[in-house]
Amino acid sequence: MKIAITGKGGAGKTTLSVYIARFIAEQSRDVYLIDADPDANAALALGLNNSEGPLSLADLNDVIKERTGAESGYGGFFTLNPRVDDIPGKYSIDVDGVRLLRTGRLKKGGSGCFCPENAFLSSVVSHMFFGSNAWVILDMEAGIEHLGRATAQGVDAMLVVVEPGKRSIQTAHDVAGLADDIGVSQVGAVINKVRGTEAEEIKELLQPVPVLAQIPYEDDVFRADMRGECAYKGTETQREIVADLINKMESLNK
Ligand SMILES: Nc1ncnc2c1ncn2[C@@H]1O[C@H](COP(=O)(O)OP(=O)(O)O)[C@@H](O)[C@H]1O
Ligand SMILES: [Mg+2]
Repeated sequence: MKIAITGKGGAGKTTLSVYIARFIAEQSRDVYLIDADPDANAALALGLNNSEGPLSLADLNDVIKERTGAESGYGGFFTLNPRVDDIPGKYSIDVDGVRLLRTGRLKKGGSGCFCPENAFLSSVVSHMFFGSNAWVILDMEAGIEHLGRATAQGVDAMLVVVEPGKRSIQTAHDVAGLADDIGVSQVGAVINKVRGTEAEEIKELLQPVPVLAQIPYEDDVFRADMRGECAYKGTETQREIVADLINKMESLNK
């Protein structure tokens, strides 16, 4: 599956991305986690130090120039379809079976911004969505416009992580609207940090966005973050939550 994960900052996008990626890796299946949040921290969430994370693709200036042909003096012409098939292998790092890639910051301007960096990055994401059998988890920000229609067609499920609170719910509705604009219909919410009985009320408020999973607030998750450890420990509860979520995502595509 190709899964895009969005939601308000702090809601738990990276935590959920890591849960799914680690669960898939546990089963010895190929999985890429693409850290596409400008505030990149998926490496930390997998338990690495900051310095051990992968390079940002957006910073590969020489590679971007070489592949897109965007040399200065070319009058601004460059290819929108650079060759990128070798990039995920070369620039991802393996963290216990999860291949981590980091896009780095996209140039402002959304899908309407045609610059070599964005052409390169969206080609990498497209290549992974359409040209690879691996599972791909895209840890995004709430703004999903830059995903672009063409790339969005490759998304099997777009998850919006919601933490209890009106602002997070509003973001979920915004994301669902944006998803519709770019042609993604398989949108579902994951309610995270559930402490009590609030989930039912949140479910109501999220309609028509279906709720595909609920994740309880756990001190262990918070503490793992404090210690710089991976919050996914492969506990029975964590496995059940992710397995059930994957089933629900698969049924979105039926
Ligand atoms: N289920 C949970 N229980 C407790 N703390 C959580 C849970 N999910 C996320 N957190 C904590 O919330 C913070 C934000 O999570 P993170 O996944 O980084 O959010 P995002 O990627 O959406 O910005 C982190 O400190 C994380 O450890
Ligand atoms: Mg994050």
